[in-house]
Amino acid sequence: MSGAGDGPIGQIFPTAVAALDDDALLALLAPADRAVPRLRANFVASIDGSATAEGLSGSLGGPADRTVFDLMRQLCDVIVVAAGTVAAEGYAGPLVSAAASAWRAANGLAPHPAVAVVTGRLSPDPESEFFAQSPVRPLVLTAASADAGRRRALSKVADVIDCGSATVEPGLIVESLVARGLTQMHCEGGPSLLGALIEADVLDALCLTISPSLEGGSGPRIAVRPGEAAPIDLRAMRLDHVLHASGMLLTQYTRVR
Ligand SMILES: NC(=O)c1ccc[n+]([C@@H]2O[C@H](COP(=O)([O-])OP(=O)(O)OC[C@H]3O[C@@H](n4cnc5c(N)ncnc54)[C@H](OP(=O)(O)O)[C@@H]3O)[C@@H](O)[C@H]2O)c1
Repeated sequence: MSGAGDGPIGQIFPTAVAALDDDALLALLAPADRAVPRLRANFVASIDGSATAEGLSGSLGGPADRTVFDLMRQLCDVIVVAAGTVAAEGYAGPLVSAAASAWRAANGLAPHPAVAVVTGRLSPDPESEFFAQSPVRPLVLTAASADAGRRRALSKVADVIDCGSATVEPGLIVESLVARGLTQMHCEGGPSLLGALIEADVLDALCLTISPSLEGGSGPRIAVRPGEAAPIDLRAMRLDHVLHASGMLLTQYTRVR
């Protein structure tokens, strides 16, 4: 099943829509009910489907994409990110602005969201700036079989949580976070993690920004799975909204279950 319906064809752009300020965007992106767990991922891709340009996602985005990305961080209970993206994108220091922290506190949220790093091999360096400069003690989501020495070292700077015995199981990632009261889960990638979340069918929503650019090279798709992985059924998604800014399309889709 493709998720596409038999409705009429309509034009959504160009149309005259009022510019949305941050409050309007927050209303659009906010969960209907924070008590209902939701794992939402946010990605940017080029028109020809690349998740990177010269190895990073940064140049694919733009101010509008950054605004929406920041607002999703502002709204979430936990930022979930894989070890590869932490290393590639240089995560360090506060991940929300002082203004976003103040908004969160005023709205009954922790000033800074929790941060959870997914790693099967416990590859993150415990002495990296990511751990040293994090305003909250990070969560490290791994498997029980991970190396004991690396576990000891990371346990000094983070809470190391097993989400599976031999491998990290996406269903147990969700279960562990929700058990800690972290129901609004905002996943920032990368492609390997998104592929695993789709395969396990635990992804509830995807915000995809389409950058008005062509990469034309060998960049990865936003979701990848190992070459030998068994094919899965298409996951049907419902379109929630499409925003437009300077040729960039910012979408949100929700999983139809
Ligand atoms: N376009 C976008 O929106 C976007 C978003 C994010 C990232 N990116 C780009 O994507 C690239 C990084 O990609 P990547 O292939 O390294 O993917 P990734 O998913 O960021 O990281 C892969 C690593 O994360 C851990 N991991 C991911 N899924 C796992 C799972 N199911 N179980 C256990 N561990 C898991 C593993 O770490 P261990 O090796 O420690 O086990 C794995 O080696 C960067 O170039 C980044 O810029 C683009």
